[in-house]
Order: sequence, then C-alpha cells, then structure tokens
Amino acid sequence: MIVASVDHAAEGNRRDFLFLATGAAAAVGGAATVWPFISQLAPDASTVSAGAPIELDLSSIASGAQIKILWRGKPYFVRNRTDAEIKAARDVDVATLRDPETDQRRVKQGHEKWLITAANCTHLGCVPLGNQGDFGGWLCPCHGSHFDTSGRIRKGPAPTNLPVPQYNFVSDTRIRITGAAPTA
Ligand code: FES
Repeated sequence: MIVASVDHAAEGNRRDFLFLATGAAAAVGGAATVWPFISQLAPDASTVSAGAPIELDLSSIASGAQIKILWRGKPYFVRNRTDAEIKAARDVDVATLRDPETDQRRVKQGHEKWLITAANCTHLGCVPLGNQGDFGGWLCPCHGSHFDTSGRIRKGPAPTNLPVPQYNFVSDTRIRITGAAPTA
C-alpha cells in the first residue's frame, strides 16, 4: 500500500491524507485539494509489486509544499523548497553541524528545489512534522528534534540527518526512487 499526505505551507499546519491501495483508493480529509495527487502518485502497473522502484510526478506539488509517501514500508518526504528555504540551507556553516553535510550533496544538481528524504526521525523513528521547528524544516514532536530545510539535524536528540534515498530524475518533473535511504 502507498500512503501519501500533503502539507501545504501556505495553509499553516493543515495536513491532508490520502490512502492508496493497490487497485483501490480512498481519501480521508481535504479530498478536494489532494485528489489530483492520486493519479500522480499511483504507481504504474509494472511497479505495483512489493519492493519495485516507484516513479512520482512532482508537477502538482506547489512551491513550499511537501508530500509524504510510504514505499517499501517506510515513509519518505518529497519537498518542493522555496528559494528562501534553499538559501537558508546553504547559508549554514557546515562545520557547525552535528552531521556535517552540504545541502548540495543532499539534492540533485539542477533540481535543487527538490529534497527527498526518509521520513523517520533518526532518533527513535517518529515521523517529524513539516514546515515546523526552529529551522523551518521539520520538528519531531516525540522528543524535540529540529531539522532544517535540507533535512539536517540542528537541535534535539537525533544523531544524524534525515537520510536521502537513491533516486534519479527521469524528467524535470518526475523522479524514480530506486533504493531505500541508508539507515542511520
Ligand atoms: S524520535 Fe524524533 S526526537 Fe525522538
């Protein structure tokens, strides 16, 4: 089963949830704004089998918004970053970070606005809340880990950044996720 949620930064902390099951779909909450994502997130018939790579059409994810998908039993964030979010991620002195990693290394060159990460907090595995926290990225409500707009740990107990899975762009607006993010 694929589960997707959509966070709309412009609408505060509102969250819409979609549940897609193989061969059937049901929506919970905020259906009007998230139905368009169904067709874009539904896997091709060839990718329905468990563990297969998945392709996602990103074209309807607005700037500043993110979606969450469940793939191979684990959640992943796909975020369309604003210019200000990218700048904030790159203005940091990497040497000061707990898990030093440049933003450039965590995204694909030429597609800098797209950040794709695992969605389990690297502390004890909760799923952080998007567009929250002291650094504008994510806040994990379980024990207060704050991640920045590159998914890097900035404050709180999480030891490492949100890992980036293996993926590639098959077009300007479409990605193919092929490998799980490494475990922290
Ligand atoms: S699980 Fe996220 S801070 Fe503990």
